[in-house]
Amino acid sequence: MAKIRKAYFCQGCGYESAKWLGRCPSCGEWNTFVEELVTKDSGVGGAGALSFLPQGNAKPLPVDSISIAPEPRMTLGSGEVDRILGGGLVPGSMVLIGGEPGIGKSTLALQLALKNPLLKTLYVSGEESAQQIKLRADRLGGSGKGCYILSETLLENILAHAQELKPNLIVVDSIQTLASKRIESSPGSVSQIRDCAATLLKYAKETGTPVFVIGHITKDGVIAGPKVLEHIVDVVMQFEGDSQHVYRILRSTKNRFGATSELGIFEMTGAGLREVSNPSEILITHRQEPLSGVAIAASIDGVRPFLIEIQALVSTAVYGTPQRSTTGFDIRRLNMLLAVLEKRAGFQLASKDVFLNIAGGLKVSDPAIDLAVAVAVLSSNLDMPIPAGCCFAAEVGLSGEVRPVARIDQRISEAEKLGFKKIYASAYNQKGLKTPGSIEVVFAGKIEEMLHKLLK
Ligand code: TYD
Ligand code: MG
Repeated sequence: MAKIRKAYFCQGCGYESAKWLGRCPSCGEWNTFVEELVTKDSGVGGAGALSFLPQGNAKPLPVDSISIAPEPRMTLGSGEVDRILGGGLVPGSMVLIGGEPGIGKSTLALQLALKNPLLKTLYVSGEESAQQIKLRADRLGGSGKGCYILSETLLENILAHAQELKPNLIVVDSIQTLASKRIESSPGSVSQIRDCAATLLKYAKETGTPVFVIGHITKDGVIAGPKVLEHIVDVVMQFEGDSQHVYRILRSTKNRFGATSELGIFEMTGAGLREVSNPSEILITHRQEPLSGVAIAASIDGVRPFLIEIQALVSTAVYGTPQRSTTGFDIRRLNMLLAVLEKRAGFQLASKDVFLNIAGGLKVSDPAIDLAVAVAVLSSNLDMPIPAGCCFAAEVGLSGEVRPVARIDQRISEAEKLGFKKIYASAYNQKGLKTPGSIEVVFAGKIEEMLHKLLK
């Protein structure tokens, strides 16, 4: 007879303890203990004679003899989400959507359920009442035919309703509110989350019904609960952005049925999320006259090129220590770029306040925006606008070298498509470059050379 007991394990080194501990006595890490259920077999273990009989039908097959049936994919009626999933939802798959509170996870899931009248969807919410969801559904519009709302947190009840209703899609908002009768601990605990996720997965695989699961994230930005949740599911999507801004990025960080480099951009409007199919057009302000401190970067996030506006403000520091502040950009990287400009290009920035902002509230980690950041800072410092129609795509190294960036062709063609006349890139990107059409590509190998070409 198997006995179940509770134990606590360090997630860093696997140390087991009967009680929860703040600090692991073995590896010294803090806050790494999680509760787990351990099944202990009372039967005599140990290695006996090694003789096993296979159980079940699975057996090893030569890889070339395995035939693949084309996977039927379900389209969700949202071009962006379908694309991120790799061309639609695979039957029986489990998709996890993570994101900060208020970012729009529930809105996205409900919108998917409402906007596709061909799908019968069971929308289970443990967070909101059916009336609250109805109010939201009215704001979102859509036919709403085939969308069933269930306000429930007990997993067994949810599955019983699902078996009866036989929906084509189940949405669970959120996994942290679910509880299974079999586990004693409270909803949101590690063992509850794991057990509920595993049961939902079993349901999904057995019935072929895809399941969307919403997950909360902790303040460090990881999905709350055990890491195993991300291992269990087939697709993990992160919903990012600043809830104060209107733009949101949906990105897949794991996908068993497609590439993970896909991302989609959404705009939060009064009537729900709107897909932004051409992000560059909204991320750049089309001004009549150019302003100082603004530079356009040809950036790529995942596989999608888009042009983004970088705004900088440089002013004389009022207090002794100059302030450096950024939104959407790594402040250490800004400090590094300022040091490079000071040392290599002879600009005196040590006694200046520098503020940097990426338009639209987006966070960009593409190193190719370095050059645009440097140019925006200098433009503000000199109070000299960058000529209209110019954009930038290069990384800046510590010694002031202008470094090449990946997929320059794609960046150039996106800039060209949007009507830019000139793009500044690294001289090391010149080799093997396709001849661009109407856009002029300016190459330089050093930051001082680049600025010279820009300001001449
Ligand atoms: P919500 O989906 O509840 O976030 P989450 O489930 O990720 O916590 O979205 C919340 C925000 O979206 C809320 O602050 C209001 C805003 N919102 C709109 O701006 N327009 C809308 O049509 C809806 C439904 C929500
Ligand atoms: Mg919600």
